[in-house]
Amino acid sequence: MEPLGGLECLGSVTSTNDVLRERARAGAPEWTALIAEVQTAGRGREGRSWRSPPGDLFLSILLRPVLGPEALLALPLLAGVAVAEASASFGASARLKWPNDVMVGERKLGGVLVEAASSGGRVDFVVVGIGLNLVAEAGEIATELRTFTTSLSAETGRSVAALDAARAVLARMSLWYDRLAREGPASVLGAWRSVSVPWWGERVEVISSGTRVEGMAHGIDESGALLLLKDDGVTLRVLSGDARALRRVSG
Ligand code: BTN
Repeated sequence: MEPLGGLECLGSVTSTNDVLRERARAGAPEWTALIAEVQTAGRGREGRSWRSPPGDLFLSILLRPVLGPEALLALPLLAGVAVAEASASFGASARLKWPNDVMVGERKLGGVLVEAASSGGRVDFVVVGIGLNLVAEAGEIATELRTFTTSLSAETGRSVAALDAARAVLARMSLWYDRLAREGPASVLGAWRSVSVPWWGERVEVISSGTRVEGMAHGIDESGALLLLKDDGVTLRVLSGDARALRRVSG
């Protein structure tokens, strides 16, 4: 364990989010941040696991937000913006697929898992977990992975150290967090829209807590929910889930 200007570097952990949650319960201050070399039980959104081989970034950041409900709902999008901008600062043309999948084209470069702890109706703390693929994996599994995922090294030809990537993400997070506190969610949502995958007007499907819905994506609302116009004309606000564009088959 090596403290590094507020950013702690750990070796092998189950999940950086779990380690940081324990620290938060023990009173760790806001902006406590840690990275790990490897995670043995890395977690993704929607109950998925997160592949966590050495060389990639596994970062968790503790926030103790004193924000209204709308601003709180913007945190997952804010974290996505921070990761997309940090990735761009290393030369990757990253965009965000709702809510916060960091994509280059059709391939996933990184992801964000935001977990909140509340009591008595108020949020005690939020752990923002960020996974960013820095290195291209070798071996048999790599061929299959390359269909769906990419890495900063594959996209830019540069090798980026986890510590440098973490610092870049933290810098963008802190900037956007300040703006969120000062200006409310509008500026964060604007930034999110400007780096989002431009699929508005396209048919998408969303799997949310095991349920599938389909419709035409026509934006996000002021709380970051995906607006999906269903075939029956009803617009659905989807608060969380995994979305993908349904490509029309031509010919
Ligand atoms: C996703 O499914 O897209 C979100 C992936 C989030 C992975 C990161 S890695 C650091 C932190 N620790 C975890 O166990 N998960 C998050």
